[in-house]
Amino acid sequence: MRVLGIESSCDETAAALVEDGRAVLGQVIASQIDLHAVTGGVVPEVASRHHVERINAVIAETLAKAGVGFDGIDAIAVANRPGLLGALLVGVSAAKALAYALKRPIIAVHHIEAHIYANFLVDPSIAFPVVCLVASGGHSELLLIERHGHYTVLGRTRDDAAGEAFDKSARLIGIGYPGGIEIDRLAKTGNPKAIRLPRARLGAESLDFSFSGLKTAVLNATRAELAEHSIEDWAASIQAAIVDVLVAKTMIAARRHNAATVLAAGGVAANSRLQAALREQCEDACLRCVIPPPPLCTDNAAMVACAGFYRLKAGEVTPLTFDTIASAELAR
Ligand code: KG4
Ligand code: ZN
Repeated sequence: MRVLGIESSCDETAAALVEDGRAVLGQVIASQIDLHAVTGGVVPEVASRHHVERINAVIAETLAKAGVGFDGIDAIAVANRPGLLGALLVGVSAAKALAYALKRPIIAVHHIEAHIYANFLVDPSIAFPVVCLVASGGHSELLLIERHGHYTVLGRTRDDAAGEAFDKSARLIGIGYPGGIEIDRLAKTGNPKAIRLPRARLGAESLDFSFSGLKTAVLNATRAELAEHSIEDWAASIQAAIVDVLVAKTMIAARRHNAATVLAAGGVAANSRLQAALREQCEDACLRCVIPPPPLCTDNAAMVACAGFYRLKAGEVTPLTFDTIASAELAR
């Protein structure tokens, strides 16, 4: 089954044609990063307008890369929640038009479920139960997944998401947008122990996260303190403060719930320290660990097609009247 995935929930206009939830036959990701760098963040109206300008070309180019026409699409999957409403509407409208014109089934996908399924693109034989760390720009949670599509929240952030912690800290130390990937780059030559920054454990039992203390600590650093250390040392220390807690709590959750596999999902899972630390600690604990390669961690449409494939395979189809939703939990 060839599923066309469409993603437009924030600042990436993306499409991908994926066969049987595994083989990416063609994909295009049109990023708006340069555009939003000027304003230091995503301006929703600007994002929507650019999705409108690009969506048709992105879909056409995806099919051209895959070497098929519209008749090569068996089903359509689109991210309809959560996200910027105006942005989501663009992808959803294109997806609905295609489904209607081509008479193909359509499935509306939760953006975070799509991030999780990037892992199944990498390895379709992932064994359950799974403990998955979800860390993106808007979400930070630990999930227990006992079978396809069934999620239990083990812990979540009490304030900022991990991606926000990266981006806000980056801004405070004078690194431009987007902050996460830039901190990752600068941290490679920095000392992660140079600056002592808070790591919120929230008690031995808790699997929740909190990053507001870190943000306050960076905010309160005086200009003199900022200048005392190199930007690389600041980046490495901030990165370590965020990643170490994410990895430590993921390992506690995996042991507590006898996970067969540990997964990571979302933009922050692209972080090189996180990827290395999680792989190393899982190996020490004799646990299987799957993390998508960085381009599949950040927003893309192959993950949407993959998540849609598993739901379609289970017999689900979404009626064409479905809506876009700004805030939607995957599970409670
Ligand atoms: O999943 P994503 O692409 O979009 C959302 O659904 O939010 O995640 C974006 C977040 C941003 O906060 C970005 O700074 C962060 O992921 N990010 C990173 C890296 N690449 C992206 N954070 C740390 N290290 C990275 N390499
Ligand atoms: Zn995302």
